[in-house]
Amino acid sequence: MLTPNTPLPALVSEAKDELQSRFGVSASIVAAAPGRVNLIGEHIDYCDGFVLPFAIERAVVIAAVPNGTNEARIATAFDSEGAVIPTGTTQEISTPKWSNYLRGVIHGFQQRGISIPGFDAFIVSSLPGGAGLSSSAALECAAATLLEELTGTELGSREKALLAQKAEHDFAEVPCGIMDQFASTFGKEDQLILIDCRSGESEMVPFADPALTILVSNTKVSHELSDGGYAERRKNTEDGLAATGKSSWRDVTMTDVEAARTGMDQTIFRRSRHVVGEIDRTIGAVEALKRGDFPELGRLMYESHNSLRDDFEVSCPELDHLVATAAEIGRQGGVIGARMTGGGFGGSTVTLCDAEKAEAIAAALVKSYEAEFGFAPEIFASRPADGARLLTLSSPQVDIVRML
Ligand code: GLA
Repeated sequence: MLTPNTPLPALVSEAKDELQSRFGVSASIVAAAPGRVNLIGEHIDYCDGFVLPFAIERAVVIAAVPNGTNEARIATAFDSEGAVIPTGTTQEISTPKWSNYLRGVIHGFQQRGISIPGFDAFIVSSLPGGAGLSSSAALECAAATLLEELTGTELGSREKALLAQKAEHDFAEVPCGIMDQFASTFGKEDQLILIDCRSGESEMVPFADPALTILVSNTKVSHELSDGGYAERRKNTEDGLAATGKSSWRDVTMTDVEAARTGMDQTIFRRSRHVVGEIDRTIGAVEALKRGDFPELGRLMYESHNSLRDDFEVSCPELDHLVATAAEIGRQGGVIGARMTGGGFGGSTVTLCDAEKAEAIAAALVKSYEAEFGFAPEIFASRPADGARLLTLSSPQVDIVRML
């Protein structure tokens, strides 16, 4: 019932072979960047909150070579049309839609005074799109890693994440926070990333116990974040903060929110209650994890889900069903906790569980989901993986030559 993750070397081979067969050239650069899940801390990265994502074992891989022109000629495994992007001029939003992530990243380099040579590239991905796993951030961060090498520039993880986020804002028109791009660039094997979204600082939180794993269950229901629900939630939180009279959510307590309640629209009140509660839950979850208190960690995960469902209203019946089923399986069956992950309105859940019971839990989730909705979710397991990086071209095992 668990879908295996395509190993990185296989993705690299596919990208290189396809580049050769489509363009008749050999790759001189291969860049990879992972997607992410978030263990807890949802919809608060744009509220100065704390978030706890990690990079997953699924990634975007780009094989490329300079072509001596002023055009990026890009072919992909997910769109037979491909795209041609002029690299010598100002970037504009265009089609196909996915090409805008690349246009935005090229724009970011150009804005820093770095000119981009033409190149041929082939892109492959093991990240399902629209699954709330940040396939777009992975594409942006892989492209930025490729362009660093192509132009001899080293941005570093933080600046690369910020450049990628701006590409998403300006070229995909999604006013996202920083979590996805940070997770994709800062990811590290066996580590969760605690990001303080007010200071922009991050701390790695070990997640090295091989007895635990995380199941990612893709509902296969998706509503694009650019549809407006995300931007609306973000605006709600701005209105909520204004009503409290504070300048940062980090200075707002639940008592402040309760005190502002009477003068507030009740929807804004509930959104605000989520933000303040979720910041506390994330801090509590990190403390619980550090002392190995799994019952408490699980409780906070379910509470987070309930708040996203009832107060923030970004869940959906499919996500709720997966979380409820995981809760029914319970600790006896190997489940520690579960919740929706990412922007919501469809997408995926995360289920923290015992590694040895992962198969059985996935089977139970699939069975129950299929009985309810008539189609199966896709479930895979992932432990925290490394972030965006270049890969060597010669070794069959794919050595990491530079951690960015
Ligand atoms: C999307 C955004 C992130 C974050 C999450 C919700 O993934 O891109 O910045 O806001 O939703 O936590």
